[in-house]
Amino acid sequence: MTGSGSGIGRAIVDRLAADGWQVLGVDLKAPEGDLAETLPGPSLGADLTTREGNKAAVDTALEHFGRLDLVVANAGFQHVSPVVDFDEDRWDALLAILLTSPFLLAKYAWESLRAAPRGGRFVAIASAHALAASPFKAGYVSAKHGVLGLVKTLALEGAADGITSTAVCPGYVRTPLVEKQIADQARAHGIDEDRVLEEVILTPHAVKRLIEPSEVADVVAFLQTPAGSAFSGSPVTMDMGWTAR
Ligand SMILES: NC(=O)c1ccc[n+]([C@@H]2O[C@H](COP(=O)([O-])OP(=O)(O)OC[C@H]3O[C@@H](n4cnc5c(N)ncnc54)[C@H](O)[C@@H]3O)[C@@H](O)[C@H]2O)c1
Repeated sequence: MTGSGSGIGRAIVDRLAADGWQVLGVDLKAPEGDLAETLPGPSLGADLTTREGNKAAVDTALEHFGRLDLVVANAGFQHVSPVVDFDEDRWDALLAILLTSPFLLAKYAWESLRAAPRGGRFVAIASAHALAASPFKAGYVSAKHGVLGLVKTLALEGAADGITSTAVCPGYVRTPLVEKQIADQARAHGIDEDRVLEEVILTPHAVKRLIEPSEVADVVAFLQTPAGSAFSGSPVTMDMGWTAR
């Protein structure tokens, strides 16, 4: 489970643990002290923009649990900028965390997922931005469209071995990733920060509210049920009507 230190990732760790899973949380920094005490399982600090970080994530899970039944690729960040000014290092980092990390996790975990007694599961927390674009998010939108392609490919390659692969595609979720965008969006659109939530962030939502991280975790938990395997190769869209237009 990557990106476990915040937002959606933390909610998924808590939900899977409550459902009886043993979960390794992986994030840039392993939590320390009181924060570590609140985590339901072990954790690893690793930079998932590197091959070594993704290898360490898989190897550490296998060391702890002896097998690996589920990979949830969730870690990510956002960068908001017009294409003409888009920082090229930020582009590389976005592709590395949002697209290459899920690929490496799947590759390194593949043999373990193949051996999983009830069928291996791969879940990517993609986005409504895997299905639709927004201005000023070239790196994020491109990587999220790419990860949906990866999920579909894994579903086809894994089918004969009982491995399922699904992309969860939420609209805007109440997490630090969204909160951090408010200042950037205000700058990019030339409006005050207090107008950003209503006039920019929630604009694509037909239902005018943010999604809660626990709601995304509920969907990931459902995907682990027998009925969840029917969603292999699919985007599970939970976007408040965004892509219904
Ligand atoms: N918040 C939303 O509105 C929203 C909507 C759709 C999809 N998503 C996706 O959900 C996922 C989680 O987002 P969130 O909103 O919970 O964000 P968040 O900022 O709350 O959490 C992201 C976590 O990823 C970790 N991370 C970032 N770079 C890393 C790296 N190089 N190595 C290891 N860990 C790294 C961060 O440290 C952080 O703990 C992301 O993939 C995001 O694109 C978010």
